[in-house]
Amino acid sequence: MTHAVEIKDLHKSFGSLEVLKGVDFTVDEGQVVCVIGPSGSGKSTLLRCVNLLEQPTKGKVTVGGVELTDPDVDIDAARRRLGMVFQSFNLFPHMTVLQNVMIAQRRVLKRGKQEAERIARENLDKVGVGAKCDAYPPQLSGGQQQRVAIARALAMDPALMLFDEPTSALDPELVGDVLSVMRKLAQDGMTMLVVTHEMSFAREVADRVVFMDGGVIVEEGPPGQVIGDPQHARTRTFLRRVLDPTYSGDDDTSETADADGGRAATPGSAGG
Ligand SMILES: Nc1ncnc2c1ncn2[C@@H]1O[C@H](COP(=O)(O)OP(=O)(O)OP(=O)(O)O)[C@@H](O)[C@H]1O
Ligand SMILES: [Mg+2]
Repeated sequence: MTHAVEIKDLHKSFGSLEVLKGVDFTVDEGQVVCVIGPSGSGKSTLLRCVNLLEQPTKGKVTVGGVELTDPDVDIDAARRRLGMVFQSFNLFPHMTVLQNVMIAQRRVLKRGKQEAERIARENLDKVGVGAKCDAYPPQLSGGQQQRVAIARALAMDPALMLFDEPTSALDPELVGDVLSVMRKLAQDGMTMLVVTHEMSFAREVADRVVFMDGGVIVEEGPPGQVIGDPQHARTRTFLRRVLDPTYSGDDDTSETADADGGRAATPGSAGG
């Protein structure tokens, strides 16, 4: 069976900094895979390698049976099958919501104006901002803007949706609206690869959770296992920090010493 996404021995370096150190995993059609892990562990880089916003240093990325890392691939055609939603919404501020959702359909997919408008309206309705078609992005809340960005991606008929911390720039009371749109997409069978710190979302919606640290996958499995009963000390320490921001992380140090080597000196040690 072909996987929706297949990543094999993926490496990515920036100069002498090796950020991805051999990552392997697959996403099956209709599955939701959530990627979690500490800041700097390579989650965004991984996502950016999946749509070739970054060129992998080594390894294979295959999406929908098409190897994107093949030098002969038509990368624009392949990328058209991928929807990407970032932390920042990247909407054009001088265009209406409707125009924002139409422009790539017109330019990239060469859809006619009427068809593009119909599809834009359908998708804006679907994410609950159909009433905002004629508004400009700066007139919308962050949660509404992010839902417009999701509608814009959906309007391109993606085979796979990539989300990179789609709710982390939002005020807490707006997070729920965006997560419920994503939950609905998952229920409708969309294949999704989601980098998130929303553990309750991952627990409820993900088919699999991948925990990354230091450019490798430390563990992966069903959410009940990785979040509910993590096997590795690094995963446990990370989850404790995410679930309890006041946690200082002083236990499990035997396995996290490397990852935490750059942390600031303890208070009081700077006297003199
Ligand atoms: N274009 C780049 N040039 C140089 N270094 C980069 C580049 N992009 C990322 N890095 C480095 O790669 C490492 C991993 O970054 P990445 O953004 O993938 O982490 P992340 O897991 O998404 O973190 P966060 O949770 O903070 O978003 C970091 O050390 C970062 O500084
Ligand atoms: Mg990131």
